[in-house]
Amino acid sequence: MAERPLTSTFDPAGPRSLEAYVRGGGYAAARRALAEMTPAAVAGEVKAAELRGRGGAGFPAGVKWSFIPRTDPGPFYLCVNADEGEPGTFKDRHILAHDPHLLLEGIILCAYAVGVHTAYIYIRGEYEEPARRLEKAIAEAAGAGVLGASVLGSGFSLDVIVHRGAGAYICGEETALLESLEGFRGKPRLKPPFPAAVGLFGKPTVINNVETLAHLPAVIRNGASWFLGLGKPKDGGTRLVSVSGSVVRPGVYELPIGTPLRDVVFVHAGGLAPGRTLKAVIPGGMSSAVLGPGEIDVPMDSASLAAAGSMIGSAGVIVIDDAVSMKTVLDRISRFYAHESCGQCTPCRVGTSWIRRIVLRRGAGEGRAGDLDRIVRLAGAMKGRTLCPFGDAAAVPILALVTKFRAELEQ
Ligand SMILES: Cc1cc2nc3c(=O)[nH]c(=O)nc-3n(C[C@H](O)[C@H](O)[C@H](O)COP(=O)(O)O)c2cc1C
Repeated sequence: MAERPLTSTFDPAGPRSLEAYVRGGGYAAARRALAEMTPAAVAGEVKAAELRGRGGAGFPAGVKWSFIPRTDPGPFYLCVNADEGEPGTFKDRHILAHDPHLLLEGIILCAYAVGVHTAYIYIRGEYEEPARRLEKAIAEAAGAGVLGASVLGSGFSLDVIVHRGAGAYICGEETALLESLEGFRGKPRLKPPFPAAVGLFGKPTVINNVETLAHLPAVIRNGASWFLGLGKPKDGGTRLVSVSGSVVRPGVYELPIGTPLRDVVFVHAGGLAPGRTLKAVIPGGMSSAVLGPGEIDVPMDSASLAAAGSMIGSAGVIVIDDAVSMKTVLDRISRFYAHESCGQCTPCRVGTSWIRRIVLRRGAGEGRAGDLDRIVRLAGAMKGRTLCPFGDAAAVPILALVTKFRAELEQ
C-alpha cells in the first residue's frame, strides 16, 4: 500500500478537532521547526523536497519562497489560494473538509520560513461549509496559542485571516486574487513584477495553493529525501487527484506522483460503467489538453504530462466515455471560458465570446462551413497573447478537442 501522508489520518466522520489533530501528532512538526530549526533550514528542506505547487502551474515552492527580497523591510504576506475554481478539481475542499488544522500547520511552517506574520486564506465564495470549518479551526488554534502573538510558545507571531471570494474563476489567478483581496475587481496584473517582489498591498508576497501548504508538515516531519522518494526526481511527494465523469468511483485519491493515468481511471476510480468504452481523459482540470484513449499510459507528473502534450495542472481528471458527445464537451468548455473571461485583454474577451457564439450557432443547427477552422484561428489568436494564463487556459483545451475529435464535431 502506497504511503498517503496527507490523507491517511483523515476522519471520514468530519473535520478533526484541534485536540484530535494534536493527538494524532499534529503541530509537532511546526513546534519542532519553531524551536529547533532556523527559517532558512525550513525553506531549505522544502526546496530539497522538490515540492511543486499543486495549484496548476507546478512551480517549486521552495524556489518561489527564495524570491522574497531580503533587502525589503517588509511586511511580507502569505496568500493561501483556496479559490479552487478549475472545473474538475475538488481536492482542496477535501483537505478543508477533513483536516483544516493540517493546512494551518502548513501555513505556520511557510510563514516561519519566509518571515510572514499575516496570512490570508482566499476561499471561493461557494465553499460556505469549508469556510466555516476553517474559521472554527482558526478560532480553536488562536484560543490554544497555536496561532497569535506567540505561535506554540515560540515568540513568533502569526495571524490568519479568511477572505471569502465571490465566485469568479479568474480570482484564482494569483494577481487577480491579490486585486480581489485588496478590495478591487479581480483583474490580473501585468507580471513582472511578480508577487514575490510586489504583491499584496505592494509588499513581497508568497502565494501558494492549499494542497501545496498541506504537504509541509510531512516534509518537515519526515525530511526532504523521504518526500522526494515518494514521487519522481524534481517532483516530490504524493498528489491529491480529483476524479470525475464516467467512472464507477469518482472522488479524491492521494497517489504517488508518477502514478499512470490509466491506473487512476481503471484501478483507483474503478473504471467505466459496464459496457462503456473510453473516449477521452482530461488529466489536469478543464484547462489541460484532452488525451485520447491511446494516450493515457502516461505517468501523472509535470514532466511526463507536458511531454504528452498536456499538463498535470490541478490534477483534476475528467473521464469521458462513449456515451458523452464531444459536442457537449465543447459546449461546456466554451460556455465556461466565455463567462469567466475578465474582459481585460481583447484577444481573450473577443476570442472566448466568438468561439461561444460559433458553438451556439452550430448547436442550433446553423453551422457554417469552416466553423471549426474559425474556432481554431480564434483560439490560436488568444494563445500567448494575454496578460495572464487565462487566454491559454481557454485556448488549449479547445484546440486539443477540435484537433483530436474533429470528425465527431464535424458531424
Ligand atoms: C485563470 C486561472 C485560475 C487559477 N485558479 C487557481 C485556483 O483556483 N487555485 C489555485 O491554487 N491556483 C489557481 N491558479 C494558479 C495560481 O495563479 C497560482 O499559480 C497558484 O495559486 C500558486 O500556488 P502553487 O505554486 O502552490 O500552486 C489559477 C491560475 C489561472 C491562470
